[in-house]
This record gives sequence, structure tokens and C-alpha cells, in this order.
Amino acid sequence: MTAREPIRIRGAEIRDLDLLLQLEEDAFPGDRLGLRDMRHAIRSPTILTLVAERKGTLAGYVFVQVRRGSTLGRLTSVAVTRDAAGQGVGRALVAAAEGAAVAAGCDRMRLEVRADNDRAARLYEAGGYRMIGEVPDYYEDCEAARHYEKRLG
Ligand SMILES: CC(C)(COP(=O)(O)OP(=O)(O)OC[C@H]1O[C@@H](n2cnc3c(N)ncnc32)[C@H](O)[C@@H]1OP(=O)(O)O)[C@@H](O)C(=O)NCCC(=O)NCCS
Repeated sequence: MTAREPIRIRGAEIRDLDLLLQLEEDAFPGDRLGLRDMRHAIRSPTILTLVAERKGTLAGYVFVQVRRGSTLGRLTSVAVTRDAAGQGVGRALVAAAEGAAVAAGCDRMRLEVRADNDRAARLYEAGGYRMIGEVPDYYEDCEAARHYEKRLG
């Protein structure tokens, strides 16, 4: 896989489930989404699920939760395969998630990041997110969560 290969982003489908679960297992040591969560996300009208493909291979996914009557979108998860890491797929997924949230009527996006996840924090900060708070003991292993927000559009 080279950095020149174009990234294609599309809506997730049920046929992506196995690869999404594998990616989830590789990307997160704990607090993972399971089969039922993933299936629900793909089918739900209020969760926008996008996958990135390079050369027809699944390279990452992003989930955004939107609610009728609310202009706040929540980016609940993003992950990129190890093969595709560091080549702009994460950035492309976040940008696509923002576009999808705007199309669904959102003007702000919020998300949570583990306080020890520097890589993800850099991705969001470079993309214009600002930290708006920190919640201690948020994750399974008691790590804190940092809350970020970005104004869209
Ligand atoms: C966080 C994650 C999604 C980033 O995806 P990615 O495709 O590797 O990121 P990109 O290539 O788009 O890089 C975007 C920015 O992220 C940061 N970044 C990417 N790779 C990095 C690395 N190896 N070290 C430090 N920062 C890095 C940089 O700021 C980069 O911007 P730049 O290229 O202008 O320097 C990916 O590492 C991942 O799946 N991690 C495991 C799951 C996870 O932690 N998800 C976030 C939950 S909140």
C-alpha cells in the first residue's frame, strides 16, 4: 500500500461487519464495540457509519451519532488499519464524518479521546478541534477522557 493510492469513502454495509470487528480488535485494547453494537450502528438511521477503502481494501471507519432536532454531532469512534496508518486515512475519515454531520443538519461536532492517546489528539487538534474538558476515570481501565469540540461549516 502506498501513500499515492486514492482513498474512497462510502457508507458502511452489513457485509463489512467482519472486517470492522477485526479492525476494532486491532485498534483498541479495551472499551471495544462488539458485533451487536456494530450491526446496530450500520443499520441505525441516527448513526452515520463511513468506511475508507484503498485499492478495494477496508482501511478504516468512522461513526458519527446525530439526533433529530439537535445540531450537535458526536464522533463516537474512528480507527484505521495498521497497514494504512499515517497516510491520511484518519484525516480523510474525520473530514468525511464532518461533511456527513453537516448534511444531517449539525453545526458542531464533539468527541472524546483517552488522555493517553496522543496520536488521536494530534489528528483532532490539527483538524481544528479544541479541548473543552476532561473527565477522570472515564474508561474501563480508569484512564481520563478529554472532550473536544469543533464548529462545523
Ligand atoms: C488515530 C488514528 C485514527 C489516526 O489515523 P491515521 O490514518 O494514522 O492518521 P492520518 O494519517 O490521517 O494522520 C492525521 C494526523 O494524525 C497524526 N498522526 C498520524 N500518524 C501519527 C503518528 N505515527 N504519530 C503521531 N501522530 C500521528 C498527525 O497529526 C497527522 O497529521 P500530519 O500527517 O499532518 O502530521 C489511528 O492511529 C488509529 O486508528 N488509532 C487507533 C484507534 C484510535 O485511537 N482511534 C481514536 C479514538 S478517539
